[in-house]
Amino acid sequence: MSTLRRGTTLAVVDPNGRSTIDVQRVLGTGGQGSVYKAQRRTGVDTPAEGIALKVFTDTTDWDVDPHFITQHRDAIRNAAIPEAPVQAHELTDTGAVNYTVSTMPLVPGGPLTNQLVGGHKATSSEAANLLGQMAVTLHDMDRRGVVHRDIKPANIISTPAVPSPEVRHTLIDWDLAVPTKFDGNTCGTFDYIAPELLLGRKPEPTSDVYSLAATTATMMTNASPNRCDLKERVAWARQADPQPVLKDVGDPYLKLVLDRASHAHPEKRSTPTDLMVDLLPLPAATRTWQPEDFSACADRLIVRRVGHAERNPMIEAFAAEALLRHLPEDHGDRDIIALMSQEGAPFRKAWTQRNGPPVRDSAPTQAPSVSIGDVDMNTESIPMTPFVAPAPKRG
Ligand SMILES: Nc1ncnc2c1ncn2[C@@H]1O[C@H](COP(=O)(O)OP(=O)(O)OP(=O)(O)O)[C@@H](O)[C@H]1O
Ligand SMILES: [Mg+2]
Repeated sequence: MSTLRRGTTLAVVDPNGRSTIDVQRVLGTGGQGSVYKAQRRTGVDTPAEGIALKVFTDTTDWDVDPHFITQHRDAIRNAAIPEAPVQAHELTDTGAVNYTVSTMPLVPGGPLTNQLVGGHKATSSEAANLLGQMAVTLHDMDRRGVVHRDIKPANIISTPAVPSPEVRHTLIDWDLAVPTKFDGNTCGTFDYIAPELLLGRKPEPTSDVYSLAATTATMMTNASPNRCDLKERVAWARQADPQPVLKDVGDPYLKLVLDRASHAHPEKRSTPTDLMVDLLPLPAATRTWQPEDFSACADRLIVRRVGHAERNPMIEAFAAEALLRHLPEDHGDRDIIALMSQEGAPFRKAWTQRNGPPVRDSAPTQAPSVSIGDVDMNTESIPMTPFVAPAPKRG
């Protein structure tokens, strides 16, 4: 185990240039190494920046295949994940000592596990905030082609550490992150790993969505999210029509959202975008994430709605209503009208029962100029404005 003393200075050369890192104190120690609070300087005139520095244990100490570690770290580097491991050097009187380290901005607060230890059960609005903010993060990762593979309460920092209406959630610990569909060993944490990965399938954004749903169920129930052991979960993943497996979280709407986000079959599970849409109907006053956080992908949301409209009419109707409320003024509702006129009875009925006839129900006398029904829902040809997840608040 490498332990660095307070005041140790490391020199790092990474794709962003040269920097020096002054080690301050240990924040935590886990399976792959220790995490330190540290200060990074990129030049004499640049102010130091607070970072979390992970110093990996020498892999020769590990009871794992070193080839796997190398393969995995190369994959992270190739995917240009900012938190990818790099080499660092400590200059001593007797020469340089080398370490493998990774860095990320220091996030104030504490991991969600601290709240569990304190006996807390997340309320519905706390859970919705967690889901909504993480959905934004997962959406951004999807765009970058990265899957995290280890989403769980221990790897999400809450700022502030205690439950708060102003909370921001930040995903940490990118040790297992890989490019989407990475063809390598299955990794994760049992309570949170998506079932298809247990069957040897490659990780996709929906695998992270499953882990997020399990994390949210854990936070709401303060208990392990699963009702079955490993053998049963593998059998469950193989069933043709598997029932939801997460423990009941009490809130009927969030249960629907979580059941869909934790579906045993990844192709039937919510994507990060689906998850955002499913959360839109929740009252704005109960959430810290805002629809503007993802309005840039509104076109994609609408197209996806068409694809999923028959899966759950109730959620779809709420989501469409929410989209109408939140879309930018100049977007127009033509696409949604088209969606509603094409998607058949259940959806339309649910909508009108709740809202009355849509404002422009009879407006277009001719067919809309864009035929959404012809769009291939899952191709990357769907135009999408570049999307940047909001930075966590510091304080
Ligand atoms: N960016 C960060 N900002 C603030 N604290 C952090 C940050 N990253 C990590 N920490 C602290 O360090 C602890 C351990 O971090 P991390 O989850 O990355 O490593 P680990 O769990 O020890 O490693 P592994 O999961 O590989 O065994 C966290 O629980 C958190 O308290
Ligand atoms: Mg961790």
